[in-house]
Amino acid sequence: MRLVHTIADLRAALANAGDTAFVPTMGNLHAGHTALVALAKRTGLPVVASLFVNPLQFGAGEDYERYPRTLDADCEKLAAAGCDIAFAPGVAEMYPAPQTFTVQVPATLANDLCGAFRPGHFDGVATVVLKLFNLVRPRAAIFGKKDFQQLFVIRELVGQFNLPVDILAGETLREPDGLAMSSRNGYLSPVERMQAPQLYRALVTVQDAIRAGERDYETLAATTRRHLSMAGWRVDYIAVRDADTLGAAGPDSARVAVLGAAWLGTTRLIDNLDFGLGEAV
Ligand code: PAJ
Repeated sequence: MRLVHTIADLRAALANAGDTAFVPTMGNLHAGHTALVALAKRTGLPVVASLFVNPLQFGAGEDYERYPRTLDADCEKLAAAGCDIAFAPGVAEMYPAPQTFTVQVPATLANDLCGAFRPGHFDGVATVVLKLFNLVRPRAAIFGKKDFQQLFVIRELVGQFNLPVDILAGETLREPDGLAMSSRNGYLSPVERMQAPQLYRALVTVQDAIRAGERDYETLAATTRRHLSMAGWRVDYIAVRDADTLGAAGPDSARVAVLGAAWLGTTRLIDNLDFGLGEAV
């Protein structure tokens, strides 16, 4: 695997690579990330991964400074997963001047779900992903369903700007107790770590109820919020949405997504489940 830190070196590494499959990350890699690399490899194309903690997508008071930076360990994992090129730019390489041109995600999406609690977050994600796509020019790019709304934003970005890249989605990888793998799990205290799978289990309970025929999504979500709050979580949101539009789930929804974001102490965790409504009911 070739590790490059500058745009010039990236271009040199890409010069003879042909079409590529791209996995953008912020580093501190876990099995969820390497599963995306495995998915990228299944395209048969050379795989490029980026490791960049993007300041643009962190709000004031969020965890930009303390976000774990573990480049050596990350490169070992990427190489073992069969990644061909790792791009780990510094902030000055990605943003040599203030990024005054930005992607503006429409308010309906930018201010919804996670966006309602993280103003500017999805603009920052869309802007850096557009830059990374312009630098890597991949044929395909792989994103995890763990960040369901992010995946939706990227698909819309690619569609509306006619970007010549196929977006592939990777399933959420979980710890044996159900907790979705996340770089932020490392912030949890031992006690919080034991509580953390409650979020996943709450989403499964909602999924089970929907599969059993429950359609009062508002009440389901409100009940779940209450249960989590009573268990000591500070809940940002629990919502049942149409998985294809991310709008309200209704009688015509073929697939739904149950999404949640909640805090344990100073750690914000997100998770979601998406599933079809058809035959299972
Ligand atoms: P990061 O949080 O590092 O995640 C990189 C990719 O890994 C994303 O597509 C994310 O959805 C996926 N991922 C994270 N946890 C996962 C899990 N448990 N199972 C499967 N996939 C998982 O998401 C970002 O970085 C950034 O916003 C980025 C897109 C790189 C832009 O800065």
